[in-house]
Amino acid sequence: KPVVLSGIQPSGRLTIGNYIGALKNWVAMQDTHDCLFTLVDLHAITVRQDPAALRERCHEFLCLYLACGLDPARSTLFVQSHVPAHSQLAWILNCHTAMGELNRMTQFKDKSSKHADNINAGLFGYPVLMAADILLYQADAVPVGNDQKQHLELARNLAQRFNARYEAEVFTVPEPFIPEVGARIMSLGDPTAKMSKSDEVEANYVALLDEPKRVVKKIKRAVTDSDAEIRFDEAAKPGVSNLLSMYSAVTGEGMADLEARFAGEGYGKLKGELADAVVAFLEPLQERYRTFRDDPSSLDAILRDGARAARERAAPTLDRVFEVSGFIPAA
Ligand code: TYM
Repeated sequence: KPVVLSGIQPSGRLTIGNYIGALKNWVAMQDTHDCLFTLVDLHAITVRQDPAALRERCHEFLCLYLACGLDPARSTLFVQSHVPAHSQLAWILNCHTAMGELNRMTQFKDKSSKHADNINAGLFGYPVLMAADILLYQADAVPVGNDQKQHLELARNLAQRFNARYEAEVFTVPEPFIPEVGARIMSLGDPTAKMSKSDEVEANYVALLDEPKRVVKKIKRAVTDSDAEIRFDEAAKPGVSNLLSMYSAVTGEGMADLEARFAGEGYGKLKGELADAVVAFLEPLQERYRTFRDDPSSLDAILRDGARAARERAAPTLDRVFEVSGFIPAA
């Protein structure tokens, strides 16, 4: 089976955008791929984190992974910091990455303008650590939303460059796996900006743990477009298209069917039905979340097994990287 690796940063609150762009596909790929899914806590500290809040958020996100349907019997679930090889490989890849390529990363530019008081070297090297996450496991496919495309391209370039430099097939060159619908869920308050889990304006996103009443309110207040027609056209009608994407992703209904069903209807009806569909999706998910949250020893066991499995799988790649780099064996 082809190998899949993906991860999410424990920052902000996990949103329906993260679910639609990433988690939903992760869950589906468990049947067809050899999957590793990680929570990238090392990435999260590129911006300031309160340690207690970070710890709590990591537990929350992991319980949400499980509630969404990630299954430790079929996939390896682990925390990035539990596998030292990520940091080790990142260092080596850093030595093969040009400052100029990292300077071009749009996420770095965005984040360094948002956190102007803390533009640290970790934030700059963030995409290199991400490449290490992927290349360590010889991943063939990386299911992500559209915003990670540029980072994935760097991971591919680094794999190719490293293989060429040492004339050895050390790394598999990974392919991005980006969904057709929902690769970029937009902010409810500004349909020209992506929905972000660290948005300061809470009304701009639906969190997976939002109370149903809140979800309904947020969706009803979502910004739409000036004419009243319901059709999918991301350029001309970003607001309505975003609502339709969410609808299609959550219910599985095709876009053409949705357009036909809502033809001639008003935005109020679309929002009402979308809110019902999202709530119907979230309620059982939140119920499952609470079950996992209230059973911390099971989560600990899952993470212990996951860390062990991930370490074992990462080791041969790191050994090979050390070897071709010219490092002498430890013993
Ligand atoms: P992160 O934590 O920002 O987002 C997690 C995943 O959710 C996707 N996503 C979205 N998809 C659709 N619409 C949106 N509005 C939306 N917002 C976020 C992201 O594309 C991502 O797939 N750098 C990564 C984490 C990472 C990683 C990795 C991913 C670290 N190492 C290795 C894959 C493989 C990040 O910050 O994602």
